[in-house]
Amino acid sequence: MSRRIAVLVSGRGSNLQALLDAIEAGTLSADLVGVFSDRPDAPALQKVPEALRWSADAKSFPDRLAFDKTLADAVAASRPDWVICAGYMRILGDDFIARFRGRLINIHPSLLPKYRGLRTHARALAAGDLEHGASVHFVVPELDAGTVIAQVVIPIFPGDTPESLSERLLSSEHALLTACAALAASGRLTERDGHPLCDGQPLLKPLTLDSSGNLSPPP
Ligand code: GRF
Repeated sequence: MSRRIAVLVSGRGSNLQALLDAIEAGTLSADLVGVFSDRPDAPALQKVPEALRWSADAKSFPDRLAFDKTLADAVAASRPDWVICAGYMRILGDDFIARFRGRLINIHPSLLPKYRGLRTHARALAAGDLEHGASVHFVVPELDAGTVIAQVVIPIFPGDTPESLSERLLSSEHALLTACAALAASGRLTERDGHPLCDGQPLLKPLTLDSSGNLSPPP
């Protein structure tokens, strides 16, 4: 049975494109049921047919609650099994998260719990880290604090800048997100009391993405 996925975006949509490519290639068995944005001008929206697009300008709502309720109703109307934040840059309120909890995941460009929030590449460089990466995690009310499902690690090279690091990480992000979406869509990933389970077994540590693009338990 193909799972229904809804994707939340705010910007250029390269992660969304990776999901679309994976569906097209047959490596992600899922139906995309909608792409939702807080920015009507987000380039990501143009990647899907109009019938799949939903957007509203968050700034035109009286408060976060009002926008989130409208967004949540629109997402719920698409009857998703999973909601994937793929470059969605607006903080989701508690009510939204509660409504989709356990089937709401986000990709974040850092090796969580390091560097929640913004400017992750610059912060990894400033700290003198030798490695950087990305994490896919369940979304909880605290920003970028949900349990991590899987990570990808890349080296930091001498001379890296925030821009070079971000650019080099991006293709690994795409591979990580599509692998996690495939895991979710296959029905193998679930959540219980805030903890991820894979094949019914608790994930005590995040899975890692290997160089072949497969997720495996850490060594
Ligand atoms: C990605 O780096 C993602 O991890 C972060 O925002 C960026 C979005 O890129 N949250 P795109 O819109 O998917 O190209």
